[in-house]
Amino acid sequence: MIIRKTPAELEKMRRSGLLVYQILEKLREMVVEGVSTLEMETVAEQMIADAGAKPAFKNYYVPAAGERYRFVLCTSINEEIVHGMPSAKRILKKGDIVSIDTGVQLDGYFGDSAVTVAVGEVNGQTKKLLDVTRESLELAIDKVRAGNRLFDICGSVEKHVVSNGFSIVREYVGHGIGTQLHEEPQIPNYVDRKNENPRLKEGMVLAIEPMVNAGKPESKVRSDKWTAVTKDGSYSAHFEHCVAVTSNGPWVLTRP
Ligand code: MF3
Ligand code: CO
Repeated sequence: MIIRKTPAELEKMRRSGLLVYQILEKLREMVVEGVSTLEMETVAEQMIADAGAKPAFKNYYVPAAGERYRFVLCTSINEEIVHGMPSAKRILKKGDIVSIDTGVQLDGYFGDSAVTVAVGEVNGQTKKLLDVTRESLELAIDKVRAGNRLFDICGSVEKHVVSNGFSIVREYVGHGIGTQLHEEPQIPNYVDRKNENPRLKEGMVLAIEPMVNAGKPESKVRSDKWTAVTKDGSYSAHFEHCVAVTSNGPWVLTRP
């Protein structure tokens, strides 16, 4: 069942969404050569505490990993797709891309957003990967309207990515969000006719998160049990927003 939120609940989700936005804006500024991903983690953890919120990812149990996640951020560099773990040993260098994903729980409601940032100048293909992934999310956001269907979202991401020569990760998907970080429905970044295709209704909140590879779609998980990487070593980008269905169209909760 897809849980629909009341206007009062959406206002609460807006507050968690804006906190996530502020954290990602701060971290985006920190992305320079020489910074470690653990330094970013420390700043994010402090901002969450200062806001009286709780991190959504830290201590979150993920069945596929068989354990709880230990950080407030996922920081995935280059060929890492998602769930890269912050570390003092992971120092950003020019030409890298880093996906920063974080979530918070504030007043009982979750917010979740991700952005991929280039460290200095990156090559043309990598710049295009970031642009196309960001654009695919924007095209999907525009489909978040009452009366549309889930496949309108999935299909708009898929079409834009594939027509630009990139590939879509199939093992990780977006999700509904509310009083739980992960609610129904699952939101793949591709149309799979075997899935249900529910109609979108006012009050639904969707965390849409295209994960796009420059090369082939296949992924694997490193021996650390968390870090998902491309099998072919190609770079991967990830952008995410939480979007509510309202009578005025899409409301992106995770940006002003
Ligand atoms: N944005 C990702 C998701 O919604 C990040 C989850 S990290 C985890 O699944 F550790 F919490 F799993
Ligand atoms: Co998410």
